[in-house]
Amino acid sequence: MAGIVLDRVKKRFGAVDVVESLSLEVADGEFVVLVGPSGCGKSTTLRIVAGLEDLTGGTVSIGGRDVTALEPKDRNIAMVFQNYALYPHKTVYENLAFGLRLRKTPAEDIKTQVNWAAGMLGIEKLLDRKPRQLSGGQMQRVSLGRALVRRPDAFLLDEPLSNLDAKLRVHMREEIGLLHKRIGTSMIYVTHDQVEAMTLGDRIVVMHGGRAQQIGTPLNIYDEPANRFVAGFLGAPEMNFIEGTVAANDGTLRFSGGGIDVTVPTGRFVLPPGAGPHPVTLGIRPEHLRLDGHAAPGTVGIADHIHLSATVKLIEQMGAQTMMICDTGDGRALRVLSERSDDHRVGASCALAVCRTRVHLFDTTTGTSLLNAAPLQ
Ligand SMILES: Nc1ncnc2c1ncn2[C@@H]1O[C@H](COP(=O)(O)OP(=O)(O)OP(=O)(O)O)[C@@H](O)[C@H]1O
Ligand SMILES: [Mg+2]
Repeated sequence: MAGIVLDRVKKRFGAVDVVESLSLEVADGEFVVLVGPSGCGKSTTLRIVAGLEDLTGGTVSIGGRDVTALEPKDRNIAMVFQNYALYPHKTVYENLAFGLRLRKTPAEDIKTQVNWAAGMLGIEKLLDRKPRQLSGGQMQRVSLGRALVRRPDAFLLDEPLSNLDAKLRVHMREEIGLLHKRIGTSMIYVTHDQVEAMTLGDRIVVMHGGRAQQIGTPLNIYDEPANRFVAGFLGAPEMNFIEGTVAANDGTLRFSGGGIDVTVPTGRFVLPPGAGPHPVTLGIRPEHLRLDGHAAPGTVGIADHIHLSATVKLIEQMGAQTMMICDTGDGRALRVLSERSDDHRVGASCALAVCRTRVHLFDTTTGTSLLNAAPLQ
């Protein structure tokens, strides 16, 4: 087992900086997820760790050893790809054993290793089958097994579940989480799926445009997104964003925009220097907006809640939860996520409330969070 350290890693393809000065320390045994939209540099970063891409700058260390100049085969890490790349004419057993045979592992050890990996993944009964006789989930297990038998210092997984249907993805996601708990080997896992990132990662690296936007535990990033991109990327349904301005006024901060005029806690936010009003974007997660039957109409809240009046435009029943699209007056759609509720009607007026300490403010120009405690990027 070993920790992995990326120090100011850079990768340029031609004139394009694909990874820009990425520093990351993956602790021994830690599960770190790289998540971000297509093209943000996730796979390139993983391939750099594996030794499949040369660096433009920076260093990579594994287990305290600088491996920047080492060939992939000398790094003792195993990579699992999206396409399982199994040998079609070999049995599952031979697929698992192949890498060990290449390394001239004694036959008895191969048998022990293959049986151990098959047991870990619950594929003991499939060892005599050929890949075409397997389901997608079983093939993905064999693909993981091929990495496991090598007993690597670390696993690198690049979207290993994206070829599976939705239900199987969730099942295999749980299996990978459990597998990691059992073997305790460091893992770097690449996905564009925010739910996979939130559920699997001890820590998450949110990437965008070749840069790490924020690194932290899933809930830390969810609760205190460092910028508007991270706030919008993590969370489904997406955070509501309302453009406006904020100004200091009588010891309070007053936000105005999108038909909303509210005060927000002064201590929670730090305004950019200079006289106001500042262009900001107000952010509210859909689950933090609740229907408030008792709120008086009007927009400026009292006490610890902000109250808004709105009209129900659309209701989406999801079973356990209800999603509503509400209009606060200027045609703006606010997503409201609540426990299942059957008694709303499209066209009805409603009152919404959000706790003052739940709202976010982002600098509209830079996207940076104005939260006092916003983690540094
Ligand atoms: N060999 C290459 N030559 C030139 N550009 C490349 C090369 N490999 C990747 N890129 C570019 O680098 C950027 C990052 O690619 P990368 O594969 O790391 O993205 P990704 O985050 O894994 O995306 P996806 O979610 O689509 O897999 C992309 O814009 C891609 O077009
Ligand atoms: Mg990729």
